[in-house]
Amino acid sequence: MNPEPESDCALCPRLAEFRSSNRAQFPGWFNAPVPSWGDPKPKLLIVGLAPGLRGANRTGRPFTGDYAGDLLFETLAKAGASRGTYDCRPNDGLELSGVRITNAVRCVPPQNKPVGAEITACRGFLTSTIAALSDVRSILVLGRIAHDSLLSSLGLKRSQYAFGHGARHDLPNKLVLFDSYHCSRYNTNTGRLTSEMFEEVVFAACKHARIGQFAD
Ligand code: URA
Repeated sequence: MNPEPESDCALCPRLAEFRSSNRAQFPGWFNAPVPSWGDPKPKLLIVGLAPGLRGANRTGRPFTGDYAGDLLFETLAKAGASRGTYDCRPNDGLELSGVRITNAVRCVPPQNKPVGAEITACRGFLTSTIAALSDVRSILVLGRIAHDSLLSSLGLKRSQYAFGHGARHDLPNKLVLFDSYHCSRYNTNTGRLTSEMFEEVVFAACKHARIGQFAD
């Protein structure tokens, strides 16, 4: 399976219908499955949930223009895992070093909530994405849905790897999975996730992958 869905992917009828209505309403926006982005040979893969309507679905780059992207790109910059300055647009010149970002669900879901069947339908792209990246040492999942989908995509049992912010799981093939609460507006506004908590997990994932300020 190709790691990237076709721009008219029809696997999820509800998401395809939402895409059509967004194309009619916002013709200048990306309005298609958002491809993975970053270093083509990453050592760290970050798995988010799904594009935001006015963020990644508008710009076509994961987390770009989404509230969650502000903290994510700021933290990657602090870790030394990016070059350039994030400016909420895909042509801001930002480059990720050693890191690639993907989403468990590639299309924007209504109300930011993909349903189970959509998460399952999109999982094949996650499986192919991981299979194509042979240098990955760390996988950082943002939120429980990304955690669960990642485990299923690798054929692993959820019961053996409980999700928890800051948890670190040794997976087969020397992969290490790092769990974080999602860096969403809701989680940061409610104090469930602070920038310090997020930085700690991102830095641990970068350190294990030996990238940015942790490179050999
Ligand atoms: N934007 C994305 O691309 N993914 C998320 O999980 C949230 C916002």
